[in-house]
Amino acid sequence: MKLKLLVGILAISGLAMLAWSWRPAPPPEVWSPAELALIDSLSLSNLPPLPVDPSNQMADSDAAAKFGQLLYFDTGLSSNGAVSCATCHQPDQYFTDGLPLAVGLEAGPRHTPSLVGLSYSPWYYWDGRKDSQWAQALAPLEASHEHNIDRLSVLRYIANNAELRGTYQQLFGALPDLPTNPIQASPKGNAEQQAAWQKLPSATQTVINSAFANLGKSLAAYQRKLRPGRTRFDDYADSLSAENPKTASDLLNAEEIAGLQLFIGKGQCVNCHNGPLLTNNDFHNTGVLTTLGELPSMGRYDGIRAARQDPFNCLGDYSDASAEQCLELRFANDKNDLVGAHKTPTLRNVAATPPYMHGGQINELLEVVRHYNDAPTSMLSHNEAKPLELREVQLQQLTRFLETLTAPLATEEHWLRPPSAQ
Ligand code: HEC
Ligand code: HEC
Repeated sequence: MKLKLLVGILAISGLAMLAWSWRPAPPPEVWSPAELALIDSLSLSNLPPLPVDPSNQMADSDAAAKFGQLLYFDTGLSSNGAVSCATCHQPDQYFTDGLPLAVGLEAGPRHTPSLVGLSYSPWYYWDGRKDSQWAQALAPLEASHEHNIDRLSVLRYIANNAELRGTYQQLFGALPDLPTNPIQASPKGNAEQQAAWQKLPSATQTVINSAFANLGKSLAAYQRKLRPGRTRFDDYADSLSAENPKTASDLLNAEEIAGLQLFIGKGQCVNCHNGPLLTNNDFHNTGVLTTLGELPSMGRYDGIRAARQDPFNCLGDYSDASAEQCLELRFANDKNDLVGAHKTPTLRNVAATPPYMHGGQINELLEVVRHYNDAPTSMLSHNEAKPLELREVQLQQLTRFLETLTAPLATEEHWLRPPSAQ
Protein backbone atom coordinates (compact mmCIF):
# COMPACT_ATOMS: atom_id res chain seq x y z
CA MET A 1 0.00 0.00 0.00
CA LYS A 2 2.73 2.40 1.11
CA LEU A 3 4.76 1.45 -1.96
CA LYS A 4 1.83 2.19 -4.27
CA LEU A 5 1.41 5.58 -2.68
CA LEU A 6 5.10 6.36 -3.11
CA VAL A 7 5.07 5.29 -6.75
CA GLY A 8 1.96 7.43 -7.26
CA ILE A 9 3.55 10.48 -5.68
CA LEU A 10 6.73 9.99 -7.70
CA ALA A 11 4.75 9.63 -10.92
CA ILE A 12 2.72 12.76 -10.25
CA SER A 13 5.75 14.86 -9.31
CA GLY A 14 7.61 13.52 -12.33
CA LEU A 15 4.77 14.57 -14.58
CA ALA A 16 4.62 17.95 -12.90
CA MET A 17 8.35 18.45 -13.49
CA LEU A 18 7.96 17.43 -17.12
CA ALA A 19 5.09 19.87 -17.53
CA TRP A 20 7.21 22.57 -15.89
CA SER A 21 10.14 22.01 -18.25
CA TRP A 22 7.77 22.19 -21.25
CA ARG A 23 6.29 25.47 -20.18
CA PRO A 24 6.95 28.32 -22.61
CA ALA A 25 9.69 30.72 -21.56
CA PRO A 26 8.34 33.04 -18.86
CA PRO A 27 7.51 36.57 -20.02
CA PRO A 28 9.92 39.35 -19.22
CA GLU A 29 9.23 40.61 -15.70
CA VAL A 30 10.39 44.02 -16.70
CA TRP A 31 10.28 45.39 -20.21
CA SER A 32 13.18 47.56 -21.34
CA PRO A 33 12.43 51.27 -21.82
CA ALA A 34 12.69 50.78 -25.61
CA GLU A 35 10.20 47.89 -25.51
CA LEU A 36 7.83 49.88 -23.29
CA ALA A 37 7.88 52.76 -25.78
CA LEU A 38 7.21 50.39 -28.66
CA ILE A 39 4.30 48.67 -26.88
CA ASP A 40 2.83 52.05 -25.99
CA SER A 41 3.02 53.14 -29.64
CA LEU A 42 0.72 50.23 -30.58
CA SER A 43 -2.01 51.10 -28.08
CA LEU A 44 -5.36 52.27 -29.41
CA SER A 45 -5.13 55.13 -26.89
CA ASN A 46 -2.50 56.63 -29.19
CA LEU A 47 -4.69 56.54 -32.28
CA PRO A 48 -4.80 60.16 -33.53
CA PRO A 49 -8.03 61.77 -34.77
CA LEU A 50 -9.02 60.74 -38.32
CA PRO A 51 -6.87 62.56 -40.88
CA VAL A 52 -8.78 65.18 -42.86
CA ASP A 53 -9.51 64.33 -46.49
CA PRO A 54 -9.24 67.62 -48.39
CA SER A 55 -10.39 65.86 -51.57
CA ASN A 56 -13.81 65.20 -49.95
CA GLN A 57 -15.66 68.22 -48.52
CA MET A 58 -18.31 65.88 -47.12
CA ALA A 59 -15.87 63.51 -45.38
CA ASP A 60 -16.93 64.54 -41.88
CA SER A 61 -20.56 65.47 -42.50
CA ASP A 62 -22.97 63.34 -40.48
CA ALA A 63 -25.71 63.98 -43.01
CA ALA A 64 -23.48 62.67 -45.80
CA ALA A 65 -22.56 59.64 -43.66
CA LYS A 66 -26.29 58.87 -43.23
CA PHE A 67 -26.81 59.13 -46.98
CA GLY A 68 -23.74 56.94 -47.46
CA GLN A 69 -25.24 54.39 -45.08
CA LEU A 70 -28.40 54.24 -47.23
CA LEU A 71 -26.28 53.61 -50.32
CA TYR A 72 -24.00 51.13 -48.55
CA PHE A 73 -26.83 48.71 -47.77
CA ASP A 74 -28.89 49.26 -50.94
CA THR A 75 -28.97 46.20 -53.22
CA GLY A 76 -30.80 48.31 -55.81
CA LEU A 77 -27.38 49.63 -56.81
CA SER A 78 -26.53 46.43 -58.69
CA SER A 79 -27.52 44.94 -62.03
CA ASN A 80 -29.29 41.94 -60.44
CA GLY A 81 -30.76 43.86 -57.49
CA ALA A 82 -29.01 41.52 -55.04
CA VAL A 83 -25.54 42.99 -54.33
CA SER A 84 -24.68 45.84 -51.93
CA CYS A 85 -21.38 46.84 -50.33
CA ALA A 86 -22.59 44.91 -47.26
CA THR A 87 -22.76 41.67 -49.29
CA CYS A 88 -18.98 41.47 -49.05
CA HIS A 89 -18.13 43.92 -46.26
CA GLN A 90 -20.50 42.53 -43.62
CA PRO A 91 -20.95 44.47 -40.37
CA ASP A 92 -21.11 41.32 -38.21
CA GLN A 93 -17.86 40.01 -39.74
CA TYR A 94 -15.75 43.13 -39.14
CA PHE A 95 -16.74 44.25 -42.63
CA THR A 96 -15.25 41.24 -44.40
CA ASP A 97 -17.00 38.12 -45.76
CA GLY A 98 -15.06 35.10 -44.51
CA LEU A 99 -14.42 33.91 -48.08
CA PRO A 100 -11.01 33.40 -49.72
CA LEU A 101 -12.15 35.36 -52.80
CA ALA A 102 -15.09 37.77 -52.87
CA VAL A 103 -18.30 36.88 -54.73
CA GLY A 104 -20.62 39.55 -56.15
CA LEU A 105 -22.23 38.99 -59.52
CA GLU A 106 -19.35 36.57 -60.01
CA ALA A 107 -16.27 35.48 -58.09
CA GLY A 108 -13.50 38.08 -58.22
CA PRO A 109 -9.71 37.77 -58.06
CA ARG A 110 -9.15 39.25 -54.56
CA HIS A 111 -9.91 38.64 -50.90
CA THR A 112 -12.24 41.16 -49.18
CA PRO A 113 -10.34 43.37 -46.69
CA SER A 114 -11.89 44.77 -43.51
CA LEU A 115 -13.09 48.38 -43.64
CA VAL A 116 -12.57 49.00 -39.90
CA GLY A 117 -10.11 51.81 -39.22
CA LEU A 118 -9.37 51.97 -42.93
CA SER A 119 -10.00 55.73 -43.26
CA TYR A 120 -6.52 56.37 -41.83
CA SER A 121 -4.98 54.91 -44.98
CA PRO A 122 -3.82 57.22 -47.78
CA TRP A 123 -4.25 54.36 -50.30
CA TYR A 124 -7.04 51.90 -51.05
CA TYR A 125 -7.08 48.36 -52.46
CA TRP A 126 -4.40 45.73 -51.91
CA ASP A 127 -2.34 47.40 -54.65
CA GLY A 128 -3.25 51.00 -53.70
CA ARG A 129 -4.75 51.89 -57.08
CA LYS A 130 -7.06 54.46 -55.47
CA ASP A 131 -5.85 57.46 -53.47
CA SER A 132 -9.07 58.21 -51.56
CA GLN A 133 -11.90 56.31 -49.98
CA TRP A 134 -14.47 58.14 -52.11
CA ALA A 135 -12.73 57.34 -55.39
CA GLN A 136 -12.45 53.71 -54.27
CA ALA A 137 -16.20 53.50 -53.56
CA LEU A 138 -17.07 54.20 -57.21
CA ALA A 139 -15.14 51.23 -58.57
CA PRO A 140 -17.09 48.23 -57.09
CA LEU A 141 -20.36 49.70 -58.40
CA GLU A 142 -19.10 49.42 -61.98
CA ALA A 143 -16.93 46.29 -61.65
CA SER A 144 -18.58 43.48 -63.62
CA HIS A 145 -17.94 40.86 -60.90
CA GLU A 146 -19.17 43.12 -58.05
CA HIS A 147 -22.27 45.39 -58.47
CA ASN A 148 -22.02 45.43 -62.28
CA ILE A 149 -24.07 48.64 -62.71
CA ASP A 150 -23.10 51.61 -64.90
CA ARG A 151 -22.93 55.16 -63.55
CA LEU A 152 -25.83 56.44 -65.62
CA SER A 153 -28.09 53.69 -64.24
CA VAL A 154 -26.86 54.44 -60.71
CA LEU A 155 -27.91 58.08 -61.04
CA ARG A 156 -31.23 57.14 -62.60
CA TYR A 157 -31.88 54.83 -59.64
CA ILE A 158 -31.25 57.74 -57.24
CA ALA A 159 -33.44 60.08 -59.32
CA ASN A 160 -36.34 57.61 -59.31
CA ASN A 161 -36.26 56.99 -55.55
CA ALA A 162 -37.91 59.82 -53.60
CA GLU A 163 -35.92 59.28 -50.38
CA LEU A 164 -32.53 58.97 -52.10
CA ARG A 165 -33.24 61.87 -54.47
CA GLY A 166 -34.40 64.13 -51.64
CA THR A 167 -31.39 63.34 -49.46
CA TYR A 168 -28.97 63.77 -52.35
CA GLN A 169 -30.43 67.18 -53.20
CA GLN A 170 -30.26 68.42 -49.61
CA LEU A 171 -26.57 67.61 -49.55
CA PHE A 172 -25.38 68.43 -53.05
CA GLY A 173 -28.11 70.46 -54.77
CA ALA A 174 -30.11 69.38 -57.80
CA LEU A 175 -29.34 66.11 -59.56
CA PRO A 176 -28.29 66.71 -63.17
CA ASP A 177 -30.84 66.15 -65.94
CA LEU A 178 -30.09 62.66 -67.17
CA PRO A 179 -30.26 61.69 -70.85
CA THR A 180 -33.23 59.38 -71.48
CA ASN A 181 -31.29 57.75 -74.28
CA PRO A 182 -28.95 55.89 -73.83
CA ILE A 183 -30.31 53.95 -70.86
CA GLN A 184 -26.88 52.73 -69.77
CA ALA A 185 -23.52 54.44 -70.23
CA SER A 186 -20.12 54.27 -68.61
CA PRO A 187 -16.46 54.50 -69.69
CA LYS A 188 -15.89 51.39 -67.53
CA GLY A 189 -18.81 49.24 -68.66
CA ASN A 190 -19.26 46.64 -71.39
CA ALA A 191 -18.62 47.54 -75.04
CA GLU A 192 -22.16 48.85 -75.57
CA GLN A 193 -22.09 51.03 -72.43
CA GLN A 194 -18.69 52.39 -73.40
CA ALA A 195 -19.86 53.27 -76.90
CA ALA A 196 -22.94 55.00 -75.45
CA TRP A 197 -20.69 56.96 -73.07
CA GLN A 198 -18.43 58.12 -75.92
CA LYS A 199 -21.45 59.55 -77.73
CA LEU A 200 -22.52 61.74 -74.79
CA PRO A 201 -21.46 65.42 -75.00
CA SER A 202 -18.49 66.03 -72.73
CA ALA A 203 -20.47 68.51 -70.59
CA THR A 204 -23.00 65.73 -69.90
CA GLN A 205 -20.20 63.31 -69.05
CA THR A 206 -18.83 65.86 -66.58
CA VAL A 207 -22.11 66.43 -64.72
CA ILE A 208 -22.72 62.69 -64.53
CA ASN A 209 -19.21 62.12 -63.20
CA SER A 210 -19.56 64.80 -60.58
CA ALA A 211 -22.88 63.47 -59.27
CA PHE A 212 -21.37 59.96 -59.29
CA ALA A 213 -18.37 61.27 -57.32
CA ASN A 214 -20.77 62.77 -54.75
CA LEU A 215 -22.13 59.27 -54.06
CA GLY A 216 -18.56 58.06 -53.46
CA LYS A 217 -17.97 60.98 -51.09
CA SER A 218 -21.06 59.98 -49.08
CA LEU A 219 -20.02 56.30 -48.99
CA ALA A 220 -16.61 57.44 -47.70
CA ALA A 221 -18.23 59.62 -45.00
CA TYR A 222 -20.16 56.56 -43.84
CA GLN A 223 -17.07 54.34 -43.71
CA ARG A 224 -15.22 56.92 -41.63
CA LYS A 225 -17.56 55.91 -38.78
CA LEU A 226 -16.12 52.37 -38.66
CA ARG A 227 -13.59 52.39 -35.85
CA PRO A 228 -11.86 49.57 -33.99
CA GLY A 229 -12.65 49.02 -30.30
CA ARG A 230 -10.32 48.59 -27.31
CA THR A 231 -8.85 45.13 -26.97
CA ARG A 232 -7.22 43.24 -24.10
CA PHE A 233 -3.89 44.17 -25.61
CA ASP A 234 -4.72 47.89 -25.34
CA ASP A 235 -5.64 47.51 -21.67
CA TYR A 236 -2.34 45.73 -21.09
CA ALA A 237 -0.32 48.38 -22.96
CA ASP A 238 -2.01 51.22 -21.09
CA SER A 239 -1.55 49.50 -17.79
CA LEU A 240 2.20 49.23 -18.43
CA SER A 241 2.47 52.95 -18.97
CA ALA A 242 0.21 53.74 -15.99
CA GLU A 243 1.79 54.79 -12.70
CA ASN A 244 0.83 51.53 -11.08
CA PRO A 245 1.22 48.77 -13.69
CA LYS A 246 0.56 45.92 -11.24
CA THR A 247 -2.50 44.57 -13.01
CA ALA A 248 -0.62 44.16 -16.31
CA SER A 249 0.02 40.42 -16.09
CA ASP A 250 -3.67 39.80 -15.28
CA LEU A 251 -4.63 41.27 -18.62
CA LEU A 252 -2.46 39.08 -20.87
CA ASN A 253 -1.27 35.60 -19.90
CA ALA A 254 2.34 34.42 -20.05
CA GLU A 255 1.99 32.93 -23.53
CA GLU A 256 0.43 36.09 -24.96
CA ILE A 257 3.10 38.29 -23.37
CA ALA A 258 5.82 36.05 -24.83
CA GLY A 259 4.07 36.44 -28.20
CA LEU A 260 4.05 40.22 -27.84
CA GLN A 261 7.77 40.13 -27.13
CA LEU A 262 8.34 38.18 -30.36
CA PHE A 263 6.02 40.51 -32.28
CA ILE A 264 8.08 43.58 -31.35
CA GLY A 265 11.40 41.69 -31.24
CA LYS A 266 12.71 38.64 -33.00
CA GLY A 267 9.65 38.27 -35.25
CA GLN A 268 10.20 41.78 -36.67
CA CYS A 269 6.48 42.15 -37.25
CA VAL A 270 6.52 45.81 -36.12
CA ASN A 271 8.73 46.69 -39.07
CA CYS A 272 5.50 46.78 -41.08
CA HIS A 273 2.63 46.22 -38.62
CA ASN A 274 3.17 49.29 -36.45
CA GLY A 275 1.22 52.18 -34.89
CA PRO A 276 -2.17 51.77 -33.16
CA LEU A 277 -3.72 50.15 -36.27
CA LEU A 278 -0.78 47.74 -36.63
CA THR A 279 -0.11 48.83 -40.20
CA ASN A 280 2.36 51.26 -41.74
CA ASN A 281 -0.12 51.78 -44.63
CA ASP A 282 2.71 50.99 -46.99
CA PHE A 283 3.33 48.30 -49.62
CA HIS A 284 5.60 45.28 -49.24
CA ASN A 285 6.43 42.05 -50.96
CA THR A 286 6.10 39.28 -48.37
CA GLY A 287 6.45 36.30 -50.72
CA VAL A 288 2.79 35.29 -50.54
CA LEU A 289 1.99 32.59 -53.10
CA THR A 290 -0.04 33.63 -56.12
CA THR A 291 -3.69 32.64 -56.21
CA LEU A 292 -4.34 29.46 -58.11
CA GLY A 293 -4.45 29.86 -61.88
CA GLU A 294 -3.38 33.51 -61.76
CA LEU A 295 -0.20 35.24 -62.88
CA PRO A 296 1.76 36.67 -59.95
CA SER A 297 0.28 40.07 -59.09
CA MET A 298 2.42 43.11 -59.97
CA GLY A 299 0.88 44.72 -56.86
CA ARG A 300 1.77 48.29 -56.01
CA TYR A 301 3.97 48.69 -59.09
CA ASP A 302 0.82 48.69 -61.23
CA GLY A 303 -1.32 50.22 -58.45
CA ILE A 304 0.48 53.56 -58.29
CA ARG A 305 0.36 53.86 -62.08
CA ALA A 306 -3.39 53.23 -62.06
CA ALA A 307 -3.89 55.79 -59.25
CA ARG A 308 -2.09 58.44 -61.34
CA GLN A 309 -4.33 57.72 -64.35
CA ASP A 310 -7.60 57.75 -62.38
CA PRO A 311 -9.87 60.70 -63.33
CA PHE A 312 -11.25 60.55 -59.76
CA ASN A 313 -7.86 61.00 -58.06
CA CYS A 314 -6.87 63.85 -55.74
CA LEU A 315 -5.59 65.98 -58.64
CA GLY A 316 -8.62 65.31 -60.87
CA ASP A 317 -11.64 67.47 -61.74
CA TYR A 318 -13.92 65.85 -59.15
CA SER A 319 -11.62 66.28 -56.16
CA ASP A 320 -12.24 69.10 -53.66
CA ALA A 321 -8.51 69.44 -52.92
CA SER A 322 -6.01 71.91 -54.35
CA ALA A 323 -2.96 70.42 -56.06
CA GLU A 324 -0.80 71.42 -53.06
CA GLN A 325 -2.93 69.19 -50.84
CA CYS A 326 -2.28 66.07 -52.96
CA LEU A 327 1.16 65.33 -51.54
CA GLU A 328 0.68 61.55 -51.25
CA LEU A 329 -0.19 61.21 -54.93
CA ARG A 330 2.39 63.66 -56.19
CA PHE A 331 5.30 62.23 -54.24
CA ALA A 332 4.41 58.53 -54.18
CA ASN A 333 7.21 56.05 -54.77
CA ASP A 334 6.82 54.15 -58.04
CA LYS A 335 10.12 52.27 -58.16
CA ASN A 336 10.75 48.70 -59.27
CA ASP A 337 10.96 47.46 -55.68
CA LEU A 338 7.17 47.69 -55.61
CA VAL A 339 6.74 44.73 -57.94
CA GLY A 340 4.61 42.16 -56.11
CA ALA A 341 4.10 44.50 -53.12
CA HIS A 342 0.71 44.66 -51.39
CA LYS A 343 -0.69 46.93 -48.71
CA THR A 344 0.08 45.97 -45.13
CA PRO A 345 -3.33 45.17 -43.61
CA THR A 346 -4.34 46.15 -40.07
CA LEU A 347 -4.01 43.32 -37.55
CA ARG A 348 -6.88 44.60 -35.41
CA ASN A 349 -9.56 41.87 -35.18
CA VAL A 350 -7.37 39.66 -37.35
CA ALA A 351 -8.29 36.46 -35.47
CA ALA A 352 -11.93 37.07 -36.45
CA THR A 353 -11.30 37.69 -40.16
CA PRO A 354 -9.86 34.55 -41.80
CA PRO A 355 -8.79 33.71 -44.45
CA TYR A 356 -5.78 35.95 -45.03
CA MET A 357 -3.71 37.80 -47.64
CA HIS A 358 -4.68 39.53 -50.91
CA GLY A 359 -5.88 36.29 -52.50
CA GLY A 360 -7.12 34.65 -49.31
CA GLN A 361 -4.25 32.20 -49.81
CA ILE A 362 -3.74 31.35 -46.12
CA ASN A 363 -6.51 29.87 -43.97
CA GLU A 364 -5.32 30.20 -40.38
CA LEU A 365 -3.28 32.58 -38.26
CA LEU A 366 -0.79 29.89 -37.26
CA GLU A 367 -0.16 29.21 -40.96
CA VAL A 368 0.46 32.93 -41.53
CA VAL A 369 3.02 32.96 -38.75
CA ARG A 370 4.62 29.83 -40.24
CA HIS A 371 4.75 31.62 -43.60
CA TYR A 372 6.80 34.43 -42.02
CA ASN A 373 9.01 31.92 -40.25
CA ASP A 374 9.86 30.25 -43.57
CA ALA A 375 9.93 33.48 -45.65
CA PRO A 376 9.65 31.67 -49.00
CA THR A 377 11.23 33.11 -52.14
CA SER A 378 8.90 35.46 -53.99
CA MET A 379 7.81 34.49 -57.51
CA LEU A 380 8.21 38.10 -58.61
CA SER A 381 10.94 40.43 -57.36
CA HIS A 382 12.05 39.59 -53.78
CA ASN A 383 10.50 38.78 -50.40
CA GLU A 384 11.37 41.60 -47.97
CA ALA A 385 10.83 39.41 -44.92
CA LYS A 386 13.70 37.11 -43.90
CA PRO A 387 13.39 33.63 -42.32
CA LEU A 388 12.92 33.97 -38.55
CA GLU A 389 14.10 30.61 -37.19
CA LEU A 390 11.52 30.58 -34.43
CA ARG A 391 10.70 27.37 -32.55
CA GLU A 392 7.26 25.77 -32.75
CA VAL A 393 6.33 27.02 -29.26
CA GLN A 394 7.22 30.56 -30.32
CA LEU A 395 5.00 30.33 -33.39
CA GLN A 396 2.17 29.38 -31.03
CA GLN A 397 2.98 32.32 -28.75
CA LEU A 398 2.91 34.78 -31.65
CA THR A 399 -0.46 33.38 -32.70
CA ARG A 400 -1.83 33.71 -29.14
CA PHE A 401 -0.73 37.35 -29.14
CA LEU A 402 -2.50 38.06 -32.46
CA GLU A 403 -5.66 36.63 -30.87
CA THR A 404 -5.63 39.37 -28.20
CA LEU A 405 -6.28 42.06 -30.84
CA THR A 406 -10.03 41.42 -31.28
CA ALA A 407 -12.83 43.54 -29.77
CA PRO A 408 -16.30 44.86 -30.71
CA LEU A 409 -16.15 48.03 -32.82
CA ALA A 410 -16.10 51.46 -31.19
CA THR A 411 -18.82 52.51 -33.66
CA GLU A 412 -22.32 53.41 -32.49
CA GLU A 413 -24.66 50.49 -33.07
CA HIS A 414 -27.00 52.39 -35.42
CA TRP A 415 -24.28 52.63 -38.08
CA LEU A 416 -23.88 48.86 -38.18
CA ARG A 417 -27.16 47.96 -39.83
CA PRO A 418 -29.28 49.12 -42.75
CA PRO A 419 -30.96 52.44 -41.86
CA SER A 420 -34.45 50.99 -42.49
CA ALA A 421 -33.89 48.45 -39.69
CA GLN A 422 -33.50 51.19 -37.05
C1 HEC B 1 -18.20 41.35 -54.42
C2 HEC B 1 -17.70 41.75 -53.12
C3 HEC B 1 -17.51 43.21 -52.88
C4 HEC B 1 -18.45 44.22 -52.98
C5 HEC B 1 -19.87 44.12 -53.43
C6 HEC B 1 -17.77 45.42 -52.55
N1 HEC B 1 -16.48 45.15 -52.19
FE1 HEC B 1 -15.14 46.42 -51.43
N2 HEC B 1 -13.70 45.09 -51.70
C7 HEC B 1 -13.88 43.79 -52.11
C8 HEC B 1 -12.59 43.20 -52.44
C9 HEC B 1 -12.34 41.79 -52.92
C10 HEC B 1 -11.63 44.20 -52.23
C11 HEC B 1 -10.12 44.12 -52.51
C12 HEC B 1 -9.95 44.31 -54.01
C13 HEC B 1 -8.53 44.68 -54.43
O1 HEC B 1 -7.74 45.12 -53.60
O2 HEC B 1 -8.24 44.57 -55.63
C14 HEC B 1 -12.36 45.38 -51.75
C15 HEC B 1 -11.76 46.57 -51.37
C16 HEC B 1 -12.45 47.63 -50.80
C17 HEC B 1 -11.85 48.77 -50.17
C18 HEC B 1 -10.35 49.01 -50.01
C19 HEC B 1 -9.83 48.22 -48.83
C20 HEC B 1 -8.37 48.45 -48.53
O3 HEC B 1 -7.85 47.74 -47.65
O4 HEC B 1 -7.74 49.28 -49.16
C21 HEC B 1 -12.86 49.58 -49.74
C22 HEC B 1 -12.73 50.89 -49.01
C23 HEC B 1 -14.10 48.95 -50.14
N3 HEC B 1 -13.81 47.76 -50.77
C24 HEC B 1 -15.36 49.50 -49.96
C25 HEC B 1 -16.47 49.03 -50.66
C26 HEC B 1 -17.69 49.78 -50.86
C27 HEC B 1 -17.96 51.19 -50.32
C28 HEC B 1 -18.53 49.00 -51.62
C29 HEC B 1 -19.89 49.34 -52.15
C30 HEC B 1 -19.95 50.48 -53.06
C31 HEC B 1 -17.83 47.76 -51.84
N4 HEC B 1 -16.57 47.83 -51.28
C32 HEC B 1 -18.36 46.68 -52.51
C33 HEC B 1 -15.07 43.14 -52.21
C34 HEC B 1 -16.28 43.81 -52.39
C1 HEC C 1 7.93 43.52 -44.74
C2 HEC C 1 6.69 43.94 -44.10
C3 HEC C 1 5.98 42.95 -43.21
C4 HEC C 1 6.49 42.24 -42.13
C5 HEC C 1 7.90 42.25 -41.58
C6 HEC C 1 5.38 41.48 -41.58
N1 HEC C 1 4.24 41.71 -42.31
FE1 HEC C 1 2.47 40.80 -42.04
N2 HEC C 1 1.78 41.61 -43.78
C7 HEC C 1 2.49 42.45 -44.59
C8 HEC C 1 1.83 42.59 -45.86
C9 HEC C 1 2.27 43.46 -47.02
C10 HEC C 1 0.70 41.75 -45.81
C11 HEC C 1 -0.28 41.47 -46.95
C12 HEC C 1 0.46 40.57 -47.94
C13 HEC C 1 -0.34 40.10 -49.12
O1 HEC C 1 -1.56 39.95 -49.03
O2 HEC C 1 0.28 39.86 -50.16
C14 HEC C 1 0.69 41.16 -44.47
C15 HEC C 1 -0.28 40.30 -43.99
C16 HEC C 1 -0.31 39.78 -42.71
C17 HEC C 1 -1.41 39.06 -42.13
C18 HEC C 1 -2.74 38.75 -42.81
C19 HEC C 1 -3.74 39.83 -42.48
C20 HEC C 1 -4.98 39.79 -43.31
O3 HEC C 1 -5.98 40.39 -42.89
O4 HEC C 1 -4.98 39.21 -44.40
C21 HEC C 1 -1.05 38.71 -40.85
C22 HEC C 1 -1.87 37.95 -39.84
C23 HEC C 1 0.29 39.22 -40.65
N3 HEC C 1 0.70 39.86 -41.78
C24 HEC C 1 1.02 39.05 -39.47
C25 HEC C 1 2.37 39.32 -39.39
C26 HEC C 1 3.24 38.85 -38.32
C27 HEC C 1 2.77 38.04 -37.14
C28 HEC C 1 4.51 39.27 -38.62
C29 HEC C 1 5.77 38.97 -37.88
C30 HEC C 1 6.12 37.56 -37.78
C31 HEC C 1 4.42 40.03 -39.86
N4 HEC C 1 3.11 40.03 -40.30
C32 HEC C 1 5.49 40.64 -40.48
C33 HEC C 1 3.68 43.08 -44.26
C34 HEC C 1 4.57 42.59 -43.31
